[in-house]
Amino acid sequence: MAKKVTKRDPSRVPVDKLTIGEATVERERLAAEIAHHDKVYYQSDSPEISDADYDALRRRVAEIEKRFPNLELGLLDLLVGAGPAEGFKKVQHSVPMLSLDNAFSDEDVQDFVTRVLRFLRINDPQGLELSAEPKIDGLSISMRYEKGHLALAATRGDGAEGENVTENIRTIAEIPERLSGRNIPSVFEARGEIYMRPDDFQALNQKQAAIGAKTFANPRNAAAGSLRQLDAAITAARPLRFFAYTWGEVTSLPADTQQGVVEAMRGWGLPVNPDVELCRTTEELLDYYHRIGERRASLGYDIDGVVYKVNRLDYQERLGFVSRSPRWAIAHKFPAEQAVTLLRDIEIQVGRTGSLTPVAKLEPVTVGGVVVSNATLHNEDEIARKDIHIGDTVVVQRAGDVIPQIVSVIKEKRPSGAEPFIFPKICPACGSHAVREADESPDSGGVVRRCTGGLICPAQAKERLKHFVSRLAFDIEGLGEEKIELFFEDGLIRRPADIFTLEANDKKSLTQLKNRKGMGAKSVEKLFRAIDARRTIGLERFIFALGIRHVGETTAKDLAKAYQTFEALRAAVEAAVQGGKESEAYADIDAIEGIGETVVDALVDFFSEPHNVEALDDLLSHVTVTPYVRVQATDSPITGKTVVFTGTLERFSRNEAKATAERLGAKVAGSVSGKTDYLVAGADAGSKLAKAREAGVTVLTEDEWLDLIKG
Ligand code: IVH
Repeated sequence: MAKKVTKRDPSRVPVDKLTIGEATVERERLAAEIAHHDKVYYQSDSPEISDADYDALRRRVAEIEKRFPNLELGLLDLLVGAGPAEGFKKVQHSVPMLSLDNAFSDEDVQDFVTRVLRFLRINDPQGLELSAEPKIDGLSISMRYEKGHLALAATRGDGAEGENVTENIRTIAEIPERLSGRNIPSVFEARGEIYMRPDDFQALNQKQAAIGAKTFANPRNAAAGSLRQLDAAITAARPLRFFAYTWGEVTSLPADTQQGVVEAMRGWGLPVNPDVELCRTTEELLDYYHRIGERRASLGYDIDGVVYKVNRLDYQERLGFVSRSPRWAIAHKFPAEQAVTLLRDIEIQVGRTGSLTPVAKLEPVTVGGVVVSNATLHNEDEIARKDIHIGDTVVVQRAGDVIPQIVSVIKEKRPSGAEPFIFPKICPACGSHAVREADESPDSGGVVRRCTGGLICPAQAKERLKHFVSRLAFDIEGLGEEKIELFFEDGLIRRPADIFTLEANDKKSLTQLKNRKGMGAKSVEKLFRAIDARRTIGLERFIFALGIRHVGETTAKDLAKAYQTFEALRAAVEAAVQGGKESEAYADIDAIEGIGETVVDALVDFFSEPHNVEALDDLLSHVTVTPYVRVQATDSPITGKTVVFTGTLERFSRNEAKATAERLGAKVAGSVSGKTDYLVAGADAGSKLAKAREAGVTVLTEDEWLDLIKG
């Protein structure tokens, strides 16, 4: 049997009572949790906790670090979505700083190349040039040059908003204050990576240790810690370096290829990476990957993979973006780092959507410079497949900023008597049955056990309510997580609609809110007025607030943009519920830019569940949802028009046609109706063409379409 652990649980201990050992464990636990929430927020677009809860996690870390200033920097410093730190001014990026999709295998790289060729309709497998370059393990930065002078430098932050670190950047010797040479655009935002050379990092750590100051876990943390110093004099003393590899807002571009622009940046005096190569085939890309991998230790800068980018900029533009990553680039990551440790326990967490997630509680261990004490186990099948028992010695791995995983069990070390883990079939939060279902989301491993308790399950209901009032949803002032927690426990708010009857019910109550401890008449009045202010709400917030699986902020916006009113969205989804997966109604939703089958299925599931419909109708009897206001970025001849593509398209792929039309402000529909403005017909167009002619819809050939959108 595994030894029983009788230590107290550090997560329940106030910061001022933690021992240094507990503080280390607790900070790593928090870091893993934060990393997980960053991941679901920034990468999967499906936050699981409210911003306030998230902030509380970060605050607890900050408190621990304040009390124990000598703890080594850990995972937290590695996080992608590190929001602006206090003390630096915030900067909105005029062009968002996006992230990259990852490839982990040769096959992923081949798929990427095939996808790009297909999208661009290039038949010659050698007809595409790609740049291959090291993926620098530092922190990305955007430097705005105006008339050749460095005007502003900002960290990536969450991609939309970063920190103004101009003064710190000015102290970096490699970064020119003024660009030199010819044809410098009046505005040019050079983007790239700030990093520290491993030898400089070693020397810095030795120096820090000698004076009893904080040492850093790895060069990346050292670079981040050095740049985000409020006192720029400290940054100046740190050996930071920079490679430029891309750009943000520019008034003009000096070349029409990726390589050309990078060369121009070099010409203007910006440091660029010397190890970039142009490749023509997947084989050449993989060959580059292996060669760089062999040189990894001696490059003079840390890397965590390589990046492949389509070289021609007109191709890049045609390929565009999906959610937060460009279609024209991919990061090919090196394999993850591993370590061996003891599995102390398996905890089941119930998420906002009712999914039961097993979390491995590990004896803390350092993996690739970071202490890990939690790892994801995905689902019950994974536990069975890997034959995991509590008390096992396990191999743990982490790659970059993803949650650590258990790779395998070292069976020889299993203590005698360790029983296989039996996954609960009952929700630990509410006792409802938890059923197995297929799950398409990337990390789920294909199946998930989900609590059927819906709105009655406290884990779900409470989390759903917290999500409902969170900043990007209803955002009700004075009704944050704590209040929801309190009102939920007291039975005052159990479903969203209860928020809007709170005042009326309170009037009838014997224990009115205003008489409660810590809640005077004024603040209660303020809360009621804040609730009133949200009786009218914008469509995209409303959709997001419903907490439908896979419908995060971006997807909610995409849906709002496509349907404009909640009634239209609902009618479309109800038609898909009726028609099933093969129906045109289903295909129409699927055809919306940014929406895929996973989302359509989630919408269909949501609207098929009578409990949800009932709760929704109840809510709608208190709330008015205002139509989506279209912000027209472009004014093109097809802005606001509805277009249908049919037949075999030869000049462009269906995906590209759709992406272009939507970029220019048109709606792309799957079938011809009275609302259709244009039907673009390729070869062998069938019934849609006939229907369009009958309905008097303007029918265009591919060339006529291209002429129209050029105009
Ligand atoms: S290109 C539109 N090139 O990797 C995205 N990124 O995982 C443009 N990175 O946020 C990024 N080396 O901080 C690019 N050679 C390279 C890179 C690189 C490191 C970082 C960058 C980005 C992250 C995405």
